Amino acid sequence: MKESRVKSEQRERQVPAGGSEYAIEINNLTFTYPGGFTALKEINLKVKRNEFVGIIGQNGAGKSTLLKNITGLLKPTKGDVIVVGVNTKDSTVADLATRVGFVLQNPDRQLFAPTVEEEVSFGPKNLKLPADEIKQRVQEALGYVGLLEQKDAFPPALSKGDRAKVVIASVLAMRPEVIILDEPTTGQDFRGCHQIMGIASRFHEAGHTVLVVTHHMALVTEYTQRTIVLCNGTVLMDGETREVFSHPEMLRQTFIVPPQITQAGTDLKEALMAARRGWTPRTVLTVKELGEDIVAAMKP
Ligand SMILES: Nc1ncnc2c1ncn2[C@@H]1O[C@H](COP(=O)(O)OP(=O)(O)OP(=O)(O)O)[C@@H](O)[C@H]1O
Ligand SMILES: [Mg+2]
Repeated sequence: MKESRVKSEQRERQVPAGGSEYAIEINNLTFTYPGGFTALKEINLKVKRNEFVGIIGQNGAGKSTLLKNITGLLKPTKGDVIVVGVNTKDSTVADLATRVGFVLQNPDRQLFAPTVEEEVSFGPKNLKLPADEIKQRVQEALGYVGLLEQKDAFPPALSKGDRAKVVIASVLAMRPEVIILDEPTTGQDFRGCHQIMGIASRFHEAGHTVLVVTHHMALVTEYTQRTIVLCNGTVLMDGETREVFSHPEMLRQTFIVPPQITQAGTDLKEALMAARRGWTPRTVLTVKELGEDIVAAMKP
């Protein structure tokens, strides 16, 4: 708890003078697809600058539809979405791309250039930036994701993990305030998952806002501070990640089960209570935390 207070104080300091404290404000957002299906119903959410948020929920809950409304790919049927002070209704996707970067659920669909370098330079070129600035941004973005040596490679020939990193680099080259990743870890191996979440984490530590949708609950508990749970187009829960994962009965409504380590922590807590031993009433989020709690419980 102490750590999260320190982090929130750091966040307060990073709010630019005169700027809104919110990166994203969503007011009464309802979204209906042209066929008539209403995928989001009366959503109200505020995300402060420099938050790291996980968005979870069953298949079809409305996660991708919500992200597309934030990035301006879809416009609200009712209500407003304000991204870094700009209403998406008054802005084009291209304008919003300098504020909010979006890595699609299937990043391969975002790859089309013959080399990694050209792929990453596409966005900055569209901004009509001077050549030396484009070069600098591309170098910086490729360095950020660890792909400098692959700059001449043909993107589709790279591994799945590296393909996702190319797309992340092309988003970072736009220098957005907010980055949104829709299931970036799907189909990635263990190393790929942690490399991608590590990139998102460093971006967050540098003062940016990160939203990640994933079905990997252990990644949500390890990396995010806040979790938003969607269910049938509505917000079922929204709070500190530890608090959200201490309500497995609520999560079950949207077919989510907490990570096994969290479940093991709950079992340990119950066993210690039954044995009338000391116990730590926190919900365990990581293997490290469970280890700490076991050591604490073993103390006489
Ligand atoms: N283009 C579309 N036209 C009509 N309905 C759609 C369209 N795209 C999505 N939907 C419907 O909207 C609902 C929400 O879809 P969405 O893709 O936002 O869910 P999701 O939470 O991202 O799911 P997943 O975990 O499978 O990616 C689903 O019922 C889906 O069938
Ligand atoms: Mg989706």
